[in-house]
Amino acid sequence: MAFASYFLLFHTLIIPFIYPSIASTFHPNALVLPVTRDPATNQYVTLLHQRTPLVPVKLTLDLSGQFLWVDCEEGYVSSTYHPAHCHTPQCSITRSKSCVDCYLSKPGCNINTCNLFPNNIFTHTNQIGEVALDVVAVHSTDGSNPGKMVIVPNFLFTCGRTNLLKGLASGVKGMAGLGRNNEISVPSIFSSAFNFSKKFAICLSSSTKSSGVLFFGDGPYVFLPGVDVSKSLIYTPLITNPDNSAGPIFHGRPAAEYFIGVKGIRINEKLIQLNTSLLSIGDEGEGGTKISTVNPYTTMETSIYHAFVNAFANELEDVPQEKPIAPFKLCFNSKNLEVPAIDFVLQGKGVFWRILGGNSMVQVSREVSCLAFVDGGIDATTSIVIGGYQLEDNLLQFDLVNSRLGFSSSLLLTQTTCANFNFTSSA
Ligand SMILES: *[C@@H]1O[C@H](CO)[C@@H](O)[C@H](O)[C@H]1NC(C)=O
Ligand SMILES: *[C@@H]1O[C@H](CO)[C@@H](O)[C@H](O)[C@H]1NC(C)=O
Ligand SMILES: *[C@@H]1O[C@H](CO)[C@@H](O)[C@H](O)[C@H]1NC(C)=O
Repeated sequence: MAFASYFLLFHTLIIPFIYPSIASTFHPNALVLPVTRDPATNQYVTLLHQRTPLVPVKLTLDLSGQFLWVDCEEGYVSSTYHPAHCHTPQCSITRSKSCVDCYLSKPGCNINTCNLFPNNIFTHTNQIGEVALDVVAVHSTDGSNPGKMVIVPNFLFTCGRTNLLKGLASGVKGMAGLGRNNEISVPSIFSSAFNFSKKFAICLSSSTKSSGVLFFGDGPYVFLPGVDVSKSLIYTPLITNPDNSAGPIFHGRPAAEYFIGVKGIRINEKLIQLNTSLLSIGDEGEGGTKISTVNPYTTMETSIYHAFVNAFANELEDVPQEKPIAPFKLCFNSKNLEVPAIDFVLQGKGVFWRILGGNSMVQVSREVSCLAFVDGGIDATTSIVIGGYQLEDNLLQFDLVNSRLGFSSSLLLTQTTCANFNFTSSA
């Protein structure tokens, strides 16, 4: 016992001194990870390397998640794991209010550790879990190719138990929280570890066979055949929601989710009549528009959805409709279908996000295409949730320095796609 505690103390003390010398030899301006869509769950999955020795760890992305969590209960083997002990700077940065004693002395269960609540947004479950630190390795990038691997020696994360993985894509071992308003989200940790600006960008591939990409840090963001998408981004402010609807534990705190100010919706450049008070955010965090990779398709509160579907149908009144296929309400014969443009009119002068056929219609059979938006219900907490299908082949930059969202609209218009990042290493 005396030996064990001596060893622990030794370990805790020495780690912060050894590793920075490895990391400080090279300062990347940006990092890059692949992102694939799991066809069975429609979850967006990335892969990073963690632990000693390093192992690849698959993680589902969560734009509303507050931190990285992984399953520490099964299969976690690492000589550099160390729990975050209560009343240390690592614990205070997490704003954890709990200090727990657990006596198994293994990853996820140690004495005198601070704890947080890892959250599985797909099953709406969370549980208490030990805060810990371990090595994370990821490829740097010059914006065009992956470069040298870089290491964050003390990457802060939270331990989940194996049952929290239920509902996640096969092979996934946790979730990568990309949310805002905290110091321990994955983008925050990377930008402070390498002192680059707190920005990240996602570009989701529309194919399940080829990877999209996730960048940490500023552009360039270059896609074959040499298109730097960071040069043509349009910006709109990110809006603070005073209440975090994502995690029940964190009510009363500003939301970790990304809200933008949709002021209206146009179809074929005609503004739709809708109850605009639903588009602003209320005192309890209700209403407004957020971006989410949890929803496979954009959802709209029922009255907005009906107005939207009716207006879209009016623009295509000469095209034969087909029997709707759930969860969609409006379907057409695909032949010669000319899809009207949908615009989300945004905060900022003349700023709108245009959605064209590739992101608005889904081909459900050889002959039938459906409007790829779904009814969010009359009691939807958030009025519009922009989902995965509408994000694919669009690059989105979450700029936390200037609190704004940069978006590209469809990359197909610039003859590239999110699957066109050149993943051949130049290191
Ligand atoms: C971090 O970056 C900022 C601005 O780019 C710079 O002023 C500062 O000196 C850097 N800090 C370190 C420790 O490199
Ligand atoms: C518009 O929405 C708000 C918020 O849900 C609601 O209180 C109000 O009654 C609605 N107005 C109309 C005309 O339906
Ligand atoms: C991808 O990058 C590699 C390494 O820089 C380069 O050799 C290769 O030509 C690039 N591929 C294409 C299609 O440009």
